[in-house]
Amino acid sequence: MAFQAPAWNRPTEPFAELISADAIARRVAELGAQITAEYSPLIDKTDVVVIGVLKGSVIFLADLVRHIALPVKVDFMGTSSYGNEQTSSGVVQITQDLSKPIEGKHVILVEDIVDTGHTVHYLIENLRTRLPASLKLASLLHKPERQEREVKIDFLGFTIPNKFVVGYGLDVAQTYRNLPFIGYVTNP
Ligand code: IMP
Ligand code: MG
Repeated sequence: MAFQAPAWNRPTEPFAELISADAIARRVAELGAQITAEYSPLIDKTDVVVIGVLKGSVIFLADLVRHIALPVKVDFMGTSSYGNEQTSSGVVQITQDLSKPIEGKHVILVEDIVDTGHTVHYLIENLRTRLPASLKLASLLHKPERQEREVKIDFLGFTIPNKFVVGYGLDVAQTYRNLPFIGYVTNP
C-alpha cells in the first residue's frame, strides 16, 4: 500500500499546506537519483559524506540518503544564529561540530532552507577551510525574495514564496517539525 501521511485535521492549527507529502517524496527521489548519477563515478576512490545541519535538515536528510544508491557516510553539524524566532541576524555560531575530518572527501551539505543565505554561506566558507575534495549544497527549499547572500544550490527541492514555513523538519519555536508536509504559517 502506498504511503499515506496522517491528516492534521485540528481546525486550530495555525498553518496551511504549501507542499504536499507526495510532492516532497517525488522531488526527494529525483534529487537522490541525481546525486547517485553524479557521484557514482567518484565514490570508489573517495568517500562521499552527507552532512546535515541540525535540526531542520534531519527529515529531509533521512529521506534523501535512502534515495542515494551509493555507500555514503552521514555526519551532522549544529548551528545557531542570533536573532528572533523568524529572522536570522547573519551571525552564525557552530554549536556542534562534525565527528570526523572531511579532508579529501566529497561533501554534500544538506540544509532545510536557504532564506537570507547567511547560515549556508558561513558553513560553506568554514567547511572549505577543511579541504574537502569537493563541496556541494543540497537544500530542500529556497526563498529567493529574502536572499542577502549569493549562494549556489547544487541540488534544490523547491523554490517558495516569501512565507514562513513549517513541517518536514522546519519549525516555528521548535514546533511542527513532524508535519509530513510543508505548511506556511497563517497565524503566527
Ligand atoms: P538563513 O536566513 O538562510 O541563514 O536561514 C537560517 C535558518 O533559518 C534556516 O536553516 C532555518 O532553520 C531557518 N529558517 C529560515 N526560514 C525559515 C522558515 O520559513 N521556516 C522555518 N525556519 C526557517
Ligand atoms: Mg536550519
